Amino acid sequence: MRITVTVDGTTYTDEVEPRQLLVYYLRETLGKTGTVVGCDTSNCGACTIHLDGHSVKSCSVLAVQADGAEVTTIEGLARDGELHPVQRAFHDNHALQCGFCTPGMIMQTLDLLADDPDPDEHAVRHGLEGNLCRCTGYQNIVRAVRDAADRMRPGAGPAAERLADDSRQMVGGE
Ligand code: FES
Ligand code: FES
Repeated sequence: MRITVTVDGTTYTDEVEPRQLLVYYLRETLGKTGTVVGCDTSNCGACTIHLDGHSVKSCSVLAVQADGAEVTTIEGLARDGELHPVQRAFHDNHALQCGFCTPGMIMQTLDLLADDPDPDEHAVRHGLEGNLCRCTGYQNIVRAVRDAADRMRPGAGPAAERLADDSRQMVGGE
């Protein structure tokens, strides 16, 4: 089947098998290997992307279901060589060890912050409960998400505001 999908701002048209999962279309057809596969059973969240502005586990979506849609992956977040504030917060708070869960954690964090720009610890843990990390014990991840919320708040600085605007557009806000 032929699909047309916009991924990280570029539009692609490709023939796909009806049974092909979106995560494999991204990785194998488009070479977007920043989105990773941790389980293939919809449990780990490592494959989380945004589909039309909302986070989904791309191993639970068929590529044909993305026909006509807008997809954002971890590879679409940085701008002009500058990390997105959420990426920067994960880096600065040492919120990763092996890094395998990190793309999905960051994409899910963006969705969480779009719904709740100032989440407390409980809200962060609840918002990320579909994303598993085998390394960190989650403490620094929670810290990073709350730090990211601070960085994306209006007044946090020109670079943060520009990038926060980008991410608001990506998650379907104003
Ligand atoms: Fe998709 Fe684990 S690979 S949830
Ligand atoms: Fe290794 Fe999360 S940092 S799985």
